Amino acid sequence: METIDWKNLPFGYLKTDYNVRCYYRNQQWGELEVSDSEYMNIHIAATCLHYGQEAFEGLKVFMGVDGKIRVFRIEENARRMRSSAYGVMMQEVPEEIFTAACIRAVQLNKRFIPPYGTGASLYIRPLLIGTGAQVGVKPAKEYCLLVFTTPVGPYFKEGFKPVAVQIARDYDRAAPLGTGQYKVGGNYAASLRAGERAHCEGFSTVLFLDAKEKKFIDEAGPANFFGIKGDTYVTPLSASILPSITNKSLMTLAEEMGMKVERRHVYIEELGEFEEVGACGTAAVISPIGKIVDRDSGQTFEYCREGKAGPKSTMLYNRIRAIQYGEEADKYGWTTIID
Ligand code: PLP
Ligand code: COI
Repeated sequence: METIDWKNLPFGYLKTDYNVRCYYRNQQWGELEVSDSEYMNIHIAATCLHYGQEAFEGLKVFMGVDGKIRVFRIEENARRMRSSAYGVMMQEVPEEIFTAACIRAVQLNKRFIPPYGTGASLYIRPLLIGTGAQVGVKPAKEYCLLVFTTPVGPYFKEGFKPVAVQIARDYDRAAPLGTGQYKVGGNYAASLRAGERAHCEGFSTVLFLDAKEKKFIDEAGPANFFGIKGDTYVTPLSASILPSITNKSLMTLAEEMGMKVERRHVYIEELGEFEEVGACGTAAVISPIGKIVDRDSGQTFEYCREGKAGPKSTMLYNRIRAIQYGEEADKYGWTTIID
């Protein structure tokens, strides 16, 4: 195997040995199948290709301080994939199949789990697609669950360093009653133009506003948004954002740390009142936000004046990482050990 520079891994695709597939045909799920191919054979009229019947997940596996392999909150990802399947009328994957496919994919690619201490992890990417042929706009009758893994470093190249984000009003990633709460590819396609423009203009990502009124913060590209004001952790409540499992975990930890948690609309004007703000998600973990620039008005909000994350974001980051790497007792039962 070529040597991998674990400490400098980007968040990108690196070929591993095997992937796992499971097919739904004739109204039933089959057995797990292992493949060493990076390709799949697909019907030219498959609904995933034409009508966006696709959903994916993202979860991480960590090599612990004790040498044990831990996956974080896998049952939550299984649940969310069922919800996404429901959202775009795909066959829901039973939790046992989702979990078994992910665990098998990890076991078959153990040599790609980044060593403890490198800060990297093995990312699991489950994908559910409509493979049955349709030409009319109808759900497929056949589906494929595919799970691949790839070792990754931080999503934003800054890692746990403050990033700059941009508020833009001329693109929405999801409609008010659309598919924003589901992890379906179309939402990401819809975010690409705004995201790439933000990169070109020097920002890590876009801070999307609510599509209807453009008054509230929705989410930060591929991550949820949170702000900290005194002892309160505030995060947007919106039907068009993805319910982040990381955010849910941070809310639990914030409460445990004696903070108050508020899930509610976050007005743009309120950005000036936060002491710390950040983006959170599986890929991003916590990315402290150092600067928010409103592309239309030029208004700028600044945080992290010393060039580093604020104390509460740092505490939350350290806590979640400690649980993931087995440095701290997993009292909520968030991790599953993989043999
Ligand atoms: N929001 C979006 C749009 C995402 O793609 C993700 C990533 O999964 C998140 C939020 C964070 O969710 P989670 O913490 O479950 O990874
Ligand atoms: C994640 O945080 O797991 C994501 O899926 C974000 C992005 C790569 C889509």
